[in-house]
Amino acid sequence: MSTNKIKHIGVFTSGGDSPGMNAALYAITKSPEVNGIKVSGFRKGYEGLIDGDLVQLKSHELQKLTQKGGTILKTARSKRFLELEGRKKALQTLNANKIDALIAIGGDGTFKGLLAFSEICNIPFIGIPGTIDNDISGTDYTLGFDSAVNTAIENIDKIRDTAESHNRVFIVEVMGRDSGYIGIHSGLMVGADAILIPESDTDFMYLLDKVKNYDSEDAFLIVVSEGDEIGAELVSSKIKEVNPNVDLRITKLGHVQRGGNPSALDRMLGIRLGVAAVNALLQGRSNVMAGVLNNQLHFTSFEEVVKQHEVNKELKELLELFGKQKREK
Ligand code: F6P
Repeated sequence: MSTNKIKHIGVFTSGGDSPGMNAALYAITKSPEVNGIKVSGFRKGYEGLIDGDLVQLKSHELQKLTQKGGTILKTARSKRFLELEGRKKALQTLNANKIDALIAIGGDGTFKGLLAFSEICNIPFIGIPGTIDNDISGTDYTLGFDSAVNTAIENIDKIRDTAESHNRVFIVEVMGRDSGYIGIHSGLMVGADAILIPESDTDFMYLLDKVKNYDSEDAFLIVVSEGDEIGAELVSSKIKEVNPNVDLRITKLGHVQRGGNPSALDRMLGIRLGVAAVNALLQGRSNVMAGVLNNQLHFTSFEEVVKQHEVNKELKELLELFGKQKREK
């Protein structure tokens, strides 16, 4: 598709919602309006594409929503789009509405969907990384990660107050699916005594070593990522085996981490990536994700994006350093 032929851009949010998605939607409507291009939003992710559920988006209606969490377009994890039949229906919707470019905001499942869709649909697609998990290659941060970490630390700080009052061991489970990013970041920022993430297999050893000598004279905070191979319950029973005197509670922060007003960083990221996605389309790019690496805009092919994402070396070293550290009296 030649760039000057783009007259109607479709956009949708997909997978788990994340703070900052609305800011990105606002930004996506901005420059097309200046260039006389229409923008339509599909509701409930790929489901809206299949069902032809769309609404025209106007920047003045979205302007005040940059501060709002969630996604005004709603979102879903579509099982129907996994089937070729679903994707064919989505293609019919695009043709019927004369959509000639598509922007998707979501996580790796969303990008896998776009790759599969590109086999039968040849309009340009641009992706924006939107997930609290920060598990996408090609960007330092995904939309919503910073807000989720802020929510996690705010809540863990509160747990510390009660943990210290009772001299309790607390295991706090944070989200992240298979990624330990929220775990590492929140754990380091609250001064956790142990941080367990899926990407490390030494973290549990350090924890058992520390908790064996824990004398119930203070709080003992453990942050566990939900994807950790051992998991909060098993960690709890192992701790009780090595130190039967502990008074222990488990708190799962859960979906509270997905909601709330986006942080400054996520609002700005949404605005930068929204504008970058539209510019990429107008410059003739397709099948790439707009991200930010070293604070510079960066475009990565969908094939690269869906590869396994790793916790970087520096963070792993921090985990080792803080994990090994003995408790001082
Ligand atoms: O991918 C975002 C995320 O919040 C993960 O951290 C979590 O594992 C999952 O979504 C929860 O999904 P759902 O809202 O469908 O239960």
